[in-house]
Amino acid sequence: MAKKTVKKPIVVGSVAPLRKVLVQLRGKNRTVALVPTMGALHDGHFSLVKQARRRTDVVVVSIFVNPAQFAPTEDFASYPRDIKRDIAALTRLGVDLVWAPSEKAMYPDGFSTAVTPGGPAKAGLEDSFRPHFFGGVTTVVSKLFLQVAPDVALFGQKDYQQLKVVMRMAKDLDIPVTVIGVPTMREKDGLAMSSRNVYLSAEERSVAPTLYRVLKDSAAQIKSGKPIAEVMAAGRKAIEHAGFVVDYLEARHADSLGPIVNADVGPIRLLVAAKLGKTRLIDNLGV
Ligand code: PAJ
Repeated sequence: MAKKTVKKPIVVGSVAPLRKVLVQLRGKNRTVALVPTMGALHDGHFSLVKQARRRTDVVVVSIFVNPAQFAPTEDFASYPRDIKRDIAALTRLGVDLVWAPSEKAMYPDGFSTAVTPGGPAKAGLEDSFRPHFFGGVTTVVSKLFLQVAPDVALFGQKDYQQLKVVMRMAKDLDIPVTVIGVPTMREKDGLAMSSRNVYLSAEERSVAPTLYRVLKDSAAQIKSGKPIAEVMAAGRKAIEHAGFVVDYLEARHADSLGPIVNADVGPIRLLVAAKLGKTRLIDNLGV
């Protein structure tokens, strides 16, 4: 039988060749999707890529571990990196272009401009525990949008606040891109897929699905009419009991991320962040 030939994506590492290749790929009127990532790709990332493949003619995946969104105390140095494996997987998915800038290409000497997000970036969730984070994300994502000029960009609901922050930023800066949120991919036991799950010990891994279980139980209880504050307090206890240190477990308005006191003013999104040993996990679920 004839072997299927798989076309390898073009891989570029600096802005000038990126622009050249994009002109060719775009041609007269082909549409372009961008999937921004930090690599260490898993099925969660791949679901974004598959959606992109279905929606547009040209699919670009960026791989860049963005130092600007890590605090000095965080895991920038140890963040998992495996670009060869990532490119092999993206080849199988029919990606056209991998944009893998070096740190110097993204932040050349003298770089001194930043985007400062407000609104959903100040909701008192991730921003309370990682104050530098959304500034780093919006600065790099706005650069990625300007570099690639995609028609469509895909982001995971896994990072729900990030999705809202990026949508707001694109709107506020009049960047002509449609930002699409893709549902969270989970392991069989419910744990949201994440590049950071590799940090978990076997014992921590067995406890980790508690987060999703509590989100599901809490959503069901809120739906059945139980007071939100009561449900959140019980949920927090259950997560702590499993061995986590909870940063937050909150019921928020799904669009504004503002506080919610009663279930009639929804749609409601439950959001959680908690540490298991040294690993910080986040998850969220619609009610
Ligand atoms: P990263 O954590 O690599 O995630 C890249 C994209 O994949 C994000 O939009 C994220 O929400 C999505 N994603 C991660 N896990 C997922 C899952 N289990 N199901 C569905 N989607 C998932 O998020 C970032 O990188 C960075 O902050 C970035 C946006 C690239 C800016 O540096």
